[in-house]
Amino acid sequence: MIEGDTVILRPMTPGDVDMFLDWVNDLAASPFWYGKDRPLTREELLGDWESYYFDGSAPEKGRGFIIEAESQPVGMVAYADVSYDIDRRPVRAEIDIVIGGSHQGRGYGVGAMRALISYLFDGRGFHRIDVHTYEHNTRMRHLLEKLGFTMEGVSRQAAWVDGEFVDEMNYGLLSGEPGGSKRR
Ligand SMILES: CC(C)(COP(=O)(O)OP(=O)(O)OC[C@H]1O[C@@H](n2cnc3c(N)ncnc32)[C@H](O)[C@@H]1OP(=O)(O)O)[C@@H](O)C(=O)NCCC(=O)NCCS
Repeated sequence: MIEGDTVILRPMTPGDVDMFLDWVNDLAASPFWYGKDRPLTREELLGDWESYYFDGSAPEKGRGFIIEAESQPVGMVAYADVSYDIDRRPVRAEIDIVIGGSHQGRGYGVGAMRALISYLFDGRGFHRIDVHTYEHNTRMRHLLEKLGFTMEGVSRQAAWVDGEFVDEMNYGLLSGEPGGSKRR
């Protein structure tokens, strides 16, 4: 369990798959996640998300958490694509997040990101966190900039959305930067 100021992150379990699928398949609330070719089936989701996100069997590779606020599940946040340096020191992790449609816009996204960032930097010793998002995902970009992420670069036309190539924005936050630790 990771306790944030406004949310709790509880480790995801295999029993959470259907709820996660509902959030992912809400095209109106989550237009920038998983493309437009939805509904995604349970099998497709599980093909994309390794079992360790749900059962905690490989925390060195990644882990998913259910975001809980006011004692109810409101979304999912995960760290993934972890990399280690030559001395096996954890260097970077990427974060993915989705908040259920009816729970969006209440600060839970910011709260969950803050809690996971603090866990990864202070609890796990990572050096940097990456988040990639589409150029037109203005809400996510606002959230990242509010949390102190730096827009480090653009992967030009890296994604195909609504019949056109769109840019992917690459954000990074380093341990020790403002926003990079709960202790600060
Ligand atoms: C993006 C997402 C994680 C944000 O979580 P959330 O709980 O809805 O967001 P919060 O309420 O914590 O914060 C939203 C902030 O964005 C602002 N915002 C809302 N809509 C916005 C928009 N269209 N453009 C810019 N900023 C916007 C809000 O004012 C708020 O900022 P503030 O705290 O400075 O007032 C959530 O909306 C979501 O799951 N979206 C669909 C999935 C997705 O896109 N995931 C990210 C993939 S990289």
